[in-house]
Amino acid sequence: MADRPGTVALLGGGVIGAGWAARFALNGVDVRLYDPAPEAERTVEQVLANARRALGRLTLSPLPAEGTVTRVATPEEAVEGADFVQESAPEREELKRALLAAASRAAPAEVVFATSTSGLLPTRLQADMAHPERLTVGHPFNPVYLLPLVEVCGGDRTAPEAVERAAAIYRGLGMRPLVLRREIDGFVADRLLEALWREALWLVADDVATAEEVDAAISLGAGLRWACMGPFLTYRIAGGTAGMRHFMEHFGPALQLPWTKLTDVPELTDELLDKLLAQSDAQAAGRDVRDLERLRDDCLVSLIQGLRSHGVGAGEALAEYERALFAAPVEAPARDGDAPLRLHSTVVPPEWIDYNGHAHESTYLRVFGDTTDALLRHLGLDLDAGSSYYTVETHLSHLGQARAGDRLHTTTQLLGHDAKRLHLYHALYRTGDEALLATAEHMMLHVETGAQRASPAAPALLDRVERIARAHAGLPRPDRAGRAIGIPGPH
Ligand SMILES: NC(=O)c1ccc[n+]([C@@H]2O[C@H](COP(=O)([O-])OP(=O)(O)OC[C@H]3O[C@@H](n4cnc5c(N)ncnc54)[C@H](O)[C@@H]3O)[C@@H](O)[C@H]2O)c1
Repeated sequence: MADRPGTVALLGGGVIGAGWAARFALNGVDVRLYDPAPEAERTVEQVLANARRALGRLTLSPLPAEGTVTRVATPEEAVEGADFVQESAPEREELKRALLAAASRAAPAEVVFATSTSGLLPTRLQADMAHPERLTVGHPFNPVYLLPLVEVCGGDRTAPEAVERAAAIYRGLGMRPLVLRREIDGFVADRLLEALWREALWLVADDVATAEEVDAAISLGAGLRWACMGPFLTYRIAGGTAGMRHFMEHFGPALQLPWTKLTDVPELTDELLDKLLAQSDAQAAGRDVRDLERLRDDCLVSLIQGLRSHGVGAGEALAEYERALFAAPVEAPARDGDAPLRLHSTVVPPEWIDYNGHAHESTYLRVFGDTTDALLRHLGLDLDAGSSYYTVETHLSHLGQARAGDRLHTTTQLLGHDAKRLHLYHALYRTGDEALLATAEHMMLHVETGAQRASPAAPALLDRVERIARAHAGLPRPDRAGRAIGIPGPH
């Protein structure tokens, strides 16, 4: 997370700009957004809501506290105090050039600029900028907050450091930068996508297939493979034991056949457009764009989580991102006197709510589990530490109800410890009215993670535990601590 900027300026807040706002803000970066359209604010709010939902499902890892999104009136105001600038204005060269020129005159020379352009050449876009050497392409894919790919490409005057800085920032946001070897129209991914899209339009224009049938031809077949491997590895496998050589011998000659119309484009007549729109409306079946986005996001989340267990593609990127999130140190904010530690806070998302209208009981355990994770990281026990504490016993008390949108925070008191064990007491509060909603008592056992064996904590770890124990020694023992479940009376 070291490369994460504190504040970023976004120029343009449409489909892509709003996606960037979500990617940055959900990774703890403050956003200053310039977009002349009044509706940009609503777009960003809606996209941010969908992004929160998707990220909350994608990972249980401790995300940083969400950054703020501030709307400003000019490009110059947007870059004020920003460490990085991402431009996502309409794909028109003269508009982007003027915008980048104006913003660059107001930004210190060391602030790197990236443009989301899908295919305009950075050499042309940087022409009118102050300090043009800091412009690079940072071409993302929709939805920007879920897909890891971002193509990074410098122009003739771009300094290698600008490309490296942009790539490092994207990596810190959980993305996978693909740095292009040289500048080229359309970059790599859109050249591939355009070829497919042109062919798809021909198939519909010639009434060979409908929009729905073309989509099925991708999503039921090759599309499934493409999430884990592209054409080269796929075709190597298709070549059988003889691999790529066999595949090329077998299918190479077919490339000479006039199967495709790759360089031709169907004329975009009113008739073709009407047909496309009618077929597309039929596919959407009354669902609006936000509904379709949620469906797409849920499917992407399932796919990426599935890929994570195999360590490929976007799943590998997610695993690396989660390792970095767990490695981020958890500092306990200073509190008056020797108060319990305050290490975790969260907001109740709608999906935690059950049929009663309040958070499902399992979610209380989740919040306490996340609190324990925060304590472990506070003790320096990240994923590479080689040891950890495992929960062996839990006692939860439910005292109040949490509702969607409630801000929650927890406190942690160390009730006891020895070389192998921690006895923890967590309390869950609603932030604001400070209502106590639940408490949890846990017994934790120190385990060597490689050998999966209980063992005494190493002296340095024990030292950190003892520092907390000394700070908590004078705290009163909570009333509920040590309670057992049972109905008092003669049995
Ligand atoms: N849509 C995609 O799938 C996609 C994917 C990758 C990259 N891109 C690229 O991202 C950029 C933005 O595309 P989009 O799809 O978000 O378009 P969009 O039309 O949804 O958004 C563009 C936004 O820019 C705003 N705008 C207009 N003039 C402006 C100005 N002078 N300064 C700042 N903002 C201004 C508009 O009000 C609008 O909100 C384009 O360069 C596009 O090629 C798009």
